[in-house]
Amino acid sequence: MSEFEKVINRKDTRSIKWDFIGETYGIEETDDILPMWIADMDFRAPEVVIEAMREQLDHGVFGYSYMCEACKDAVRGWLKERHAWQTENEWMLFHHGVVPAIASVIETFTTSEDAILVTPPVYPPFFQVAGHMEREVVTCEMIENDGVYSIDFEKFEKALQQNVKLFVLCHPHNPGGIVWQREELEKIIELCAKHGVLILSDEIHADLVFQNNKHIPIASIAGDEEKHIITCVAPTKTFNLAGVQAAIMIASDEDIREKLNRHAAAHGQMNLSPFAAAALKAAYEEGGPWLDELLTIVSNNMDYVIGQFKEHLPKIQVRKPDATYLLWIDYRGTGLSEDEMMDNLLNKGRLALEPGSKYGEAGIGFLRMNVACPPTLVEDGVARFIKALA
Ligand SMILES: Cc1ncc(COP(=O)(O)O)c(C=O)c1O
Repeated sequence: MSEFEKVINRKDTRSIKWDFIGETYGIEETDDILPMWIADMDFRAPEVVIEAMREQLDHGVFGYSYMCEACKDAVRGWLKERHAWQTENEWMLFHHGVVPAIASVIETFTTSEDAILVTPPVYPPFFQVAGHMEREVVTCEMIENDGVYSIDFEKFEKALQQNVKLFVLCHPHNPGGIVWQREELEKIIELCAKHGVLILSDEIHADLVFQNNKHIPIASIAGDEEKHIITCVAPTKTFNLAGVQAAIMIASDEDIREKLNRHAAAHGQMNLSPFAAAALKAAYEEGGPWLDELLTIVSNNMDYVIGQFKEHLPKIQVRKPDATYLLWIDYRGTGLSEDEMMDNLLNKGRLALEPGSKYGEAGIGFLRMNVACPPTLVEDGVARFIKALA
């Protein structure tokens, strides 16, 4: 049995996905609920990463640590090999996560007088963090066509002119599963440059790309505009290390880096934990074969769900995403409201998926299903979904 087929009991491990279902969904009895919601995987991390963390653990001294040049070399090597993006070690700044990194960028480069642009449906912290910081959030809802999302560039340009100072791009897109194409990225670069808007590109899902799709880091094709782009990448989504907490901000512009460093100093931000450093280095240096195997498993899981839904739930539409391990399920054809759908799933199916409204109004009528788990759990999840709608 492969590591990806083993079902690991995650209950009572302080897992948000498995142990906080009641709090999240407002229900009492949750023991028999199958969680396929928050975006972490039910797989063990790559053995090479566990071994690197074990070495750190066995050392027994857990003092302050820093992101050594070898860690930066590992990130740089990975980006070059996997995404044909040539970066420099000095462009990298480290943070405890992509969301904290987004918060730092918002706080550093905007004021409460400025607006942030996002394209819903989109990963909720983009607008939540900006909202908490009392920045106005301007939205440019994407166009959805048979499950394929695109940006309405006329609307996008108008939105950029509403006092926007920062555009937060989700690339690949969560929850839409889109890998943005070169022409779209070029248009984004052109319009943001025209209106003096900084781009923050969240590329945490960049490594989770299927079949012939290719992730193009936006900064890698930006030419002179590269200096107006901050990119966030992380080993945490790719290698299932979310709880270890590590992310990298990449900015080729020295002035941007200096401001971000000053922000970090002002907030007393220390370096990452020794475990995060060890995990990051091992993952990027040696995690490639694990990732390739993972992608096959996730791709097969997606094909299975899509096939079953086609056969048993013809009113439901799901497109295989270009990237991410998340299915974005369109149930508008059932005529059910979100409350009705969630009630059916939780109470009849005993299945926890994410309601689309979490991603903004544009997400109403959709559900997000995480299929990064052993095939037997995916089969169970599909059976529960079918039961919920019977
Ligand atoms: C687009 C996107 N950005 C960021 C994150 C979370 O990043 P972190 O855990 O590093 O804060 C997620 C997690 O699902 C995500 O989907």
